Amino acid sequence: MTNKLYKLFFTLIAVIAFFNCNNNTKKEDSTTLKESFKNDFLIGTALSNLQINQTDSQLASLLKKEFNAITPENDMKWEQIHPQKDTFYFDVADKYVELGEKYNMHIVGHTLVWHSQLAPWMQNVKDSITLANNIENHINTIVKRYKGRIETWDVVNEALNEDGSFRTSNFHEVMGDSFIAHAFKLAAAADPDAKLVYNDYNLWKPEKRAGVVKLVKNLQAQGIKIDGVGMQAHWSLEGPSIKDIENSIIAYSNLGVKVSFTELDVTVLPNPWDLDGAAVEQSYEQFEGDPKMNPYPVKLTDSGQTQLAKRYEDIFNLFLKHKDKIDRVTFWGVNDGQTWLNNWPINGRTNHPLLFDRNFEPKKAYNSVLALKK
Ligand code: G3I
Repeated sequence: MTNKLYKLFFTLIAVIAFFNCNNNTKKEDSTTLKESFKNDFLIGTALSNLQINQTDSQLASLLKKEFNAITPENDMKWEQIHPQKDTFYFDVADKYVELGEKYNMHIVGHTLVWHSQLAPWMQNVKDSITLANNIENHINTIVKRYKGRIETWDVVNEALNEDGSFRTSNFHEVMGDSFIAHAFKLAAAADPDAKLVYNDYNLWKPEKRAGVVKLVKNLQAQGIKIDGVGMQAHWSLEGPSIKDIENSIIAYSNLGVKVSFTELDVTVLPNPWDLDGAAVEQSYEQFEGDPKMNPYPVKLTDSGQTQLAKRYEDIFNLFLKHKDKIDRVTFWGVNDGQTWLNNWPINGRTNHPLLFDRNFEPKKAYNSVLALKK
């Protein structure tokens, strides 16, 4: 009898311990980015070609634990996916979409119409009807292929100058600003349920903000569907100001569209030429290898980590203040090893702009962001 009682007692202890352990796991899970912000907005990341193709378990476990949205960093750009008039390469894009589905993520398509990383054959099309037909074929083929699977499309990318006027590009030279309406109309028809976004950098700037407001109003006046404005958010420790970002969130939201932060990162490296934004055509070869321009080649200093943590805290505080207007916050990369900012505007530097370091370890900035939800 005593033996039986002992057995019962130990079984009970084991059951309680099992449930406790499970609860602890749940508690740990709830301190991830995607869990913490699940009632506020999606937390996304951009995946490089390597990351889409590899099965690295460190990456996979961080990806599914922390993020619930993905964007392909390069693999759906025109030059990659549609390099010749009658050739589409879908291998990597297919893998990317399958990966997102496997982890039950919100899948973003980036980007349908962009002057940069455009296939060379498209640069030479100077006839407006041919150009419009090519855009139609491009959008129909790609958007229909992933209909119901890619939930958000960056339809047009970076069509504006810093003063809010239209950027000179082959699209604009040949079709005028009608190429934007054309692209949005086609995307809406190809997948009526997809969310359609205009995506650009420096959208905190008052002049550029005015340009976006005009662009969105113009589409709306024609009855063309646009669901969101994507503020890329390639920022630095010093700027832009929280006020400027806030003014843009409010201005875009007042148009009845949602705001997403589509490419968030915060550079910690010197930028002496007062470069801002992300015009990829700028490059500064003469500074390559200059140690002054690469002050943290091994790791970021403690004070640098603290500065970055404070900057991210301020940024996410603002996002939470306006969570009703914001759909998604996507980091432009999973960890510091991947960031494009290691090679732009100067090649071969060691930047530290994200929440996870090169070993996939969370940084102080990660904790400061999570602390806002505790
Ligand atoms: O794939 C080639 C490789 O074969 C070659 O050996 C290597 C040598 O330079 O280049 C590789 O291509 C690079 C490509 O990234 C893939 O890594 C290009 O040079 C490089 O220019 C390209 O940079 C991308 C950049 O867009 C180009 O426009 C960045 O990874 C990507 O993060 C960046 O993303 C853009 C967004 O799409 C739009 N908003 C701005 C943002 C940052 O520029």
